[in-house]
Amino acid sequence: MAVTGSAGFIGGWVVRRLLHKGYRVRACVRDVNDATKTTFLKEMPGYASGRLTLHAADLDSDGCFDVIFDGCQGVCHLSHVSDYDDHEYVQRVCDHIIASVNRSGTVNRVIVTSSIAAVISEVDLQEFVRRPVFYEDRYPDEQNPKRTPAKGQGYSMGKVIAERAFSDAAEINGDWDAITCCPADNVGPIQSAHQKNMGPWQHNIEMMLSGKYFQTDAYRPWMTVDVRDDAECHIGLLESVDVHNGERYIAWSTETRNVEDICASIDRLLPELGHDAPEVTDPFPERIQAREKEMRAIWAGCELRNDRIRAVVPIEFRSLDQSIRDCVESLLSVAEVTPVRRSGFEPGT
Ligand SMILES: NC(=O)c1ccc[n+]([C@@H]2O[C@H](COP(=O)([O-])OP(=O)(O)OC[C@H]3O[C@@H](n4cnc5c(N)ncnc54)[C@H](OP(=O)(O)O)[C@@H]3O)[C@@H](O)[C@H]2O)c1
Repeated sequence: MAVTGSAGFIGGWVVRRLLHKGYRVRACVRDVNDATKTTFLKEMPGYASGRLTLHAADLDSDGCFDVIFDGCQGVCHLSHVSDYDDHEYVQRVCDHIIASVNRSGTVNRVIVTSSIAAVISEVDLQEFVRRPVFYEDRYPDEQNPKRTPAKGQGYSMGKVIAERAFSDAAEINGDWDAITCCPADNVGPIQSAHQKNMGPWQHNIEMMLSGKYFQTDAYRPWMTVDVRDDAECHIGLLESVDVHNGERYIAWSTETRNVEDICASIDRLLPELGHDAPEVTDPFPERIQAREKEMRAIWAGCELRNDRIRAVVPIEFRSLDQSIRDCVESLLSVAEVTPVRRSGFEPGT
């Protein structure tokens, strides 16, 4: 198997779980000699014996996956691209990855990592009132003239472009299929210190630990998946005989929690830290703040579904409490984050 974005939060877990299941894994990173990002991969079981190999590939360079994909049966395409707002560039990157898949002659499945942003990113919140069920056949309102990168929709649009590019190419080729995985907000343990700044969700928890946090996304509650469960979803989709080209599967537990409750959860789950939960700062302009109640009510009326992935992947999603606890513990132990503590609190007492 080849995994693009292997040094990333999700990619790193996909690599670990693939090795655990006995696969041979080609981990793609931009710089194999960047110890900050690759040491955790080189310490994984399988690296010493050669079952895990690391490969340098910058997906902006045409043909970079030709040699890597040759001989692989599956590809998990997890890496980000450099610019989601430039859709010609997004298409170009897809085209050359697809060309490497076609040239390999061995790859028979590509898991394309998209996002729930490609399901629910709306310019107009009223669209959630009209279509409140969040499931795989739901796409953002693509007819809305405000759905543009300038309005913050570049990521969601770029992901939809990539989903379609891969499934169209697979259909034309006929020898491989493309299955899309749309992960939700990933929370859970980091495996390497550099991942604390990525995400963004583990980075948000790091900020809460450090005493500063801001309200985000029109008061949208976090809609989460544990990063380890997300990895299992990717692998389950690679292995499934019940999925078909062009299908997409949302990876989430369907649990949601408001930002301020995530902040408060840290002290509830890990009282021994004495965490001084910050007040969540609201940075929105007054006209948005005036709509807070309305916006929260809209989110509360939405229904998250994960029937489809549970039908094809054997998975029990972890609770968000478990994900938060493990995320915090890893931020302390792996990335040496120091939490702000209540005044007078002595750790260990
Ligand atoms: N995290 C989430 O909550 C979430 C939610 C929904 C969807 N997703 C999607 O899941 C995927 C993985 O997310 P993540 O959180 O694991 O991301 P991440 O931790 O930021 O890692 C992404 C990886 O992408 C690689 N990358 C970026 N630009 C690249 C380029 N031009 N060429 C080659 N590699 C490049 C980086 O590789 P190097 O480290 O080697 O430089 C990085 O390790 C992304 O496609 C993201 O859109 C994530």
